[in-house]
This record gives sequence, C-alpha cells and structure tokens, in this order.
Amino acid sequence: MKKAKFLFSILALIILFTSCKKESDNYIDPRGTDYAGSESCIQCHKIQSESAFHSSHFKASSPATKENILGHFKNGKNTFVYDANTKLVMEERRDTLYQVLYKNGKEVQAYPFEILFGIKNAQTSAYWKNHYTFELPISYYKSINDWATSPGYSATVPNFERQIDKECFGCHSSNIASRYVTTSSDSITFMTMEVEDFMSKRTLIYGIDCERCHGPAKQHVRTHLKFPDLKKAQNIVAFKDLKKQQRIDACAICHSGNDKLKIKSRFQYKPGDDLLDYFRGVPASNDSINYDVHGNQLGLLAQSKCFKKSEAMDCMNCHNPHENASKNLATYSSMCISCHQGIEHTPSTIKTAGKSLLTNCVECHMPKQDSKAIRFQKSNGGAMSSYSLRTHKIAVYPPNKK
Ligand code: HEC
Ligand code: HEC
Ligand code: HEC
Ligand code: HEC
Ligand code: HEC
Ligand code: HEC
Ligand code: HEC
Repeated sequence: MKKAKFLFSILALIILFTSCKKESDNYIDPRGTDYAGSESCIQCHKIQSESAFHSSHFKASSPATKENILGHFKNGKNTFVYDANTKLVMEERRDTLYQVLYKNGKEVQAYPFEILFGIKNAQTSAYWKNHYTFELPISYYKSINDWATSPGYSATVPNFERQIDKECFGCHSSNIASRYVTTSSDSITFMTMEVEDFMSKRTLIYGIDCERCHGPAKQHVRTHLKFPDLKKAQNIVAFKDLKKQQRIDACAICHSGNDKLKIKSRFQYKPGDDLLDYFRGVPASNDSINYDVHGNQLGLLAQSKCFKKSEAMDCMNCHNPHENASKNLATYSSMCISCHQGIEHTPSTIKTAGKSLLTNCVECHMPKQDSKAIRFQKSNGGAMSSYSLRTHKIAVYPPNKK
C-alpha cells in the first residue's frame, strides 16, 4: 500500500515536471518564477513582438557584439588622440572588441567592450571588473558619425575608472540584481547583517522587454496556453483600463529625468503603481525652465498648453509603445490637426512655412534643441558638440531659431 502511494507520487511528479517543461521550455527568468520572458510572448502576440524586438527599447542596452556595435573599428576611423603621446584605438581581436590605450606607441592596457547602451543617436559602452561595471571613456555619436568623449569625460586624460551604477541599468535594462545579503549570528551582538552591493552579471536582462512595461506575465501565459479559446486577457494589467496618470507614469518612470529623491528602485515598478511611491521631488531641482531635452520628455510635455488644457493627452497619442518614434513628421501633424482646426497663422509665418505649414507643425512647435546635460568633444582637442533632441514642450518658438 505504502509502495503504491510512493509510486503514485513519483508518477505525479514526473507528469508535473514534464508538463512544466513543455510550458516554459526550461526558461528561468532572473526576476523570478512569475516572469515568462519575451520569447514566450511571440506565439500569441506576433505583431507587438515583431516591432518591439527591433525597437530602441529592446536595444537600450545590449551585449557588445559586432552586430550591435555602431562605431568604426578600421580604416583610420578608429582612433581617438588625447595628445602627441597618448591615443586610444578601437580594435577587434579574436572576435572581441577593445579600447586599447597606447603611450608613445606602446600598448598600455586593453579594455573590452562588454555592454552597450543606446542605439539611436549615441552609444556608450561598459566593461566588467570583478562585480562592477565601468564606462569606457570614448563613445560613438551618430550626428558626427565618429567616436568622441563619453559625456563628462576629458579629451586630454583617459579615464577607465568611472563606475556605471545601477541607475543606468534601471532605465536601460529590465533587470540587474545587485544586493547580496548574508545573515550570520555571533556571540556578542547575537545577529549581524552584511550587505554587499555588487552587480551580478548573470541576472542582467538587456534592454526594456515586454514584462518591464507590462509586469510579470507567467500566469497570463500559463492561463492562455491552457485555455486557448479565451479571448479576454487574463492575469495581466490592461493599459486601456488604467487612469491617465497611471498610463503616463508607466512611461515617466524612465522619461521624467533623474533628479528626484529615490524611495524605491525603478526595477520594482509595475503598471498601475503610483510614481509617488518611487520618487519625491527635490525642491531645488524642480526648476522647470531648466528641464533638459535629454531624458525628461514628460517634464517638458507637461509644460505645454496642449497637455495642460486637454484631458486626453498622454505619450500614446503620438507614440506606439512597441515602435520607435516615427520619423515621418507629417504623421504627427495630422494628430495636431485633430485638435487644432482652423489655426490662424500670420501671413509671414504662412510665407516662411510654405507647403510645410500643414505637414510639419513639429519642426516649428517642437524644434530640436541642444542638451545642456550631454556634450562631447572630438579627438585631438576638437570642438565641443552638443547632443540635440526634439523638445517635448509644444509652444510658439521664435522663427528660424533653435
Ligand atoms: C497562449 C497565448 C498567449 C501568450 C503566450 C501571451 N499572451 Fe498576452 N494575450 C493573450 C490573449 C488571448 C489576449 C487577449 C486578446 C488580445 O488582447 O490580444 C492577450 C492580451 C495581452 C495584453 C493586453 C491586455 C489588455 O487587456 O489590454 C497584454 C499586455 C499581453 N497580452 C501581454 C503579454 C505578454 C507580455 C506576454 C509574454 C510574456 C504574453 N502576453 C503572452 C494570449 C497570450
Ligand atoms: C524602463 C525604462 C523605460 C520605460 C518604462 C519606458 N521607456 Fe521609453 N526609452 C527608455 C530608454 C532608456 C530609451 C532610449 C533607448 C535607447 O535608444 O537606448 C527610450 C526611448 C524611447 C523612445 C525613442 C525611441 C526611438 O528610437 O525613436 C520613445 C518614443 C519612448 N522611449 C517612449 C516611451 C513610452 C511611450 C513609454 C511608456 C509606454 C516608455 N517609453 C517607457 C526607457 C524607458
Ligand atoms: C531616468 C532614466 C535614465 C537614466 C538613469 C539613464 N538614462 Fe540614458 N537615456 C534615457 C532616455 C529616456 C534616453 C533617450 C531619450 C533621451 O535622450 O531623452 C536615454 C538615452 C541614452 C543614450 C543615447 C541612446 C540612443 O539610442 O541614442 C545613451 C548612450 C545613454 N542614455 C546612456 C546612459 C548611461 C551610460 C547612463 C548612466 C550613467 C544613463 N543613460 C542613465 C534614460 C535614462
Ligand atoms: C515601453 C513599454 C512597452 C513595451 C516594451 C511593450 N509594451 Fe505592450 N503595451 C505598452 C502600452 C503602454 C500598451 C497600451 C497601448 C495603448 O493603450 O495605447 C501596450 C499594449 C499591448 C498589448 C495590447 C494590444 C495593443 O497593441 O495595444 C499587447 C498584446 C502588448 N502590449 C504586448 C506586448 C508584448 C508581447 C511586448 C514585447 C514584445 C510588449 N507589449 C512590449 C507598453 C509596452
Ligand atoms: C488633445 C488635443 C491637442 C493635441 C493633440 C495638440 N494640441 Fe496644441 N493645444 C491644445 C489645447 C487645448 C491648447 C490650448 C489652447 C488655448 O489655450 O486656447 C493648445 C495649445 C497649442 C499651442 C499654443 C501654445 C502656447 O503656448 O500658446 C500651440 C502652438 C499648439 N497647441 C500646437 C500643437 C501642435 C504643433 C501639436 C501637435 C504636435 C498639438 N498642438 C497637439 C490641444 C491639443
Ligand atoms: C504631440 C506629440 C507627442 C507626444 C504627446 C509625445 N511625443 Fe515623444 N516625440 C514626438 C516627436 C514629434 C518626436 C520626434 C520625432 C523625430 O524627430 O524623429 C518625439 C520623440 C520622442 C523620443 C525620442 C527622442 C529622440 O530624438 O531620440 C522620446 C524618447 C519620446 N518622444 C518620448 C515621449 C514620452 C515619454 C512621451 C510622454 C511623456 C512623449 N514622447 C509624448 C511627439 C510626441
Ligand atoms: C513655419 C513654422 C510653423 C509651422 C509649420 C506651423 N506653425 Fe503654428 N505657429 C507658428 C508661429 C510663429 C505662431 C505664432 C503666430 C504666428 O506668427 O503665426 C504659431 C501659432 C500657432 C498656434 C496658435 C498659438 C496661439 O497663441 O494661439 C497654434 C495652435 C499652432 N500654431 C498650431 C500649429 C499646427 C497644428 C501646425 C501644423 C498643422 C502649425 N502650427 C504649423 C509657426 C508655425
């Protein structure tokens, strides 16, 4: 009798394990067992997956492979000169890419590209040392199609010792675990707790994936695999049922700057959460005039009359969250016109605009502006350049001025 019971439980276990295996393809998500991983969404959400996998969100950080890296590695376009005796050369050696430092023609040290940040306008890189990541001093910028100093780096002294902290990963990746807590008892204090703050390479999930925005979806996947005829989504937050502020917060967790006091890690954020549980405004930095075009799209948009005076405006009016920002500026214009019919421009504006008056509202009302936070310098003591982005403050700007 006992034996039969034992055999039965073994059988039950085998069935359980084989069915689990089939369901998850053995994938274990570093965030925990309530996450399914983006690969698992493709089978039912082909449209969203096909576009999202190629978006900047998915490439907000990525492994430094030859396919992902943007800068040049040959033909003389791979050198950054600090001074007559010091230069940095981007080199490919046995399938790994390096920034190699030379002094008086002799190699001093080579640092590998391991993690890439960015894909659209610029790309900066990091390497692992022990359990920490460090930024490489030279980055790639599309506007000049060349290498130049990483933001905040000197063009005369190479520095490989600046740590990339967890904040960068908080906005550019889907997970990195960094805290290792051990508890041990000793006879005097009875209990001591050691907290080690290092980053674990194994737990890094590159890019902003489906569940970074939608929250853990393992249960959702499980339910719909089991009941393929269900048409209504189960066990997942529905954005369409969220309030305006919650829809905005789902983007603002990463698109409203980085100057506020942090209460909780961005990684803990799930759609529907209240951002006030994560950040608290620092009064001094609330100087709204000075919001930078880089990284604070919400801060700027929120200053626009369009946003303040209309109920319905959020990021999704103009952006599909699964695609990159459309480069076709006319598509935004039709959206503007949906609220602004019969605008009265002065004759001189109409004359300057010509044909573009109705198709290019954005060029005049959301002009490109230079970032004050991000600047970079070219090789050989070259000029300082600014990083420029379109402002999200929709307003009337002086003509022909950026
Ligand atoms: C076995 C099929 C299946 C898998 C796998 C699956 N889903 Fe779904 N999902 C559905 C169905 C069915 C719906 C409801 C119909 C619809 O909106 O497409 C849905 C709806 C959704 C919605 C919209 C919810 C709403 O009500 O607005 C989101 C978001 C979503 N899924 C995310 C995901 C993510 C993220 C993954 C991967 C981790 C995933 N799904 C994997 C079947 C699946
Ligand atoms: C976890 C952080 C995070 C969240 C959440 C997030 N973003 Fe982003 N977003 C980023 C980062 C980082 C980039 C820059 C990616 C890159 O190019 O490296 C970006 C880029 C973008 C871009 C430019 C893409 C391109 O190449 O044109 C748009 C548009 C955008 N986000 C809109 C949104 C919207 C809308 C939401 C909310 C639905 C959202 N983001 C949520 C971090 C986030
Ligand atoms: C508060 C969220 C946030 C933090 C923190 C953050 N970034 Fe970003 N980053 C963004 C967003 C949003 C963009 C894209 C749009 C923009 O520039 O406003 C971006 C753009 C970039 C780009 C250009 C991407 C491209 O495709 O053109 C690079 C490179 C980058 N970040 C690197 C970093 C590094 C390195 C750190 C840490 C020192 C960092 N970021 C910290 C949100 C953040
Ligand atoms: C940057 C954040 C972000 C990422 C990354 C993201 N989504 Fe979404 N997704 C949203 C938002 C926001 C909505 C709601 C759009 C709306 O209401 O206009 C949405 C809507 C959906 C819907 C409902 C139908 C639709 O298209 O509106 C599905 C299904 C879905 N997402 C699946 C996925 C899958 C699968 C992935 C990964 C391949 C993914 N999403 C990645 C933010 C994101
Ligand atoms: C959801 C509706 C809506 C959309 C979409 C919209 N706006 Fe507006 N916009 C408004 C409202 C409401 C006002 C305030 C009008 C008033 O004060 O009488 C406004 C004001 C403005 C102003 C005057 C700003 C100022 O500071 O005086 C400009 C310029 C403008 N919008 C341009 C645009 C452009 C360009 C777009 C597209 C990129 C756009 N709007 C999209 C609703 C919208
Ligand atoms: C009224 C329309 C509109 C709204 C609303 C809007 N955007 Fe944009 N966004 C644009 C336009 C236009 C561009 C620039 C497209 C271009 O020049 O290629 C853009 C570009 C971006 C970029 C890429 C910047 C770059 O140049 O690389 C990010 C990131 C972004 N938007 C985030 C957001 C977020 C987050 C929200 C919500 C807080 C939002 N946007 C709301 C119109 C809008
Ligand atoms: C060539 C640049 C240019 C283009 C293109 C343009 N505008 Fe304007 N717009 C202006 C200027 C400048 C003003 C201030 C009044 C004037 O001089 O005509 C203005 C005024 C406005 C106002 C009224 C602001 C107020 O104070 O009442 C709105 C709304 C507006 N524009 C919306 C739009 C929309 C929507 C589009 C696209 C269909 C557009 N504009 C295209 C330059 C432009």
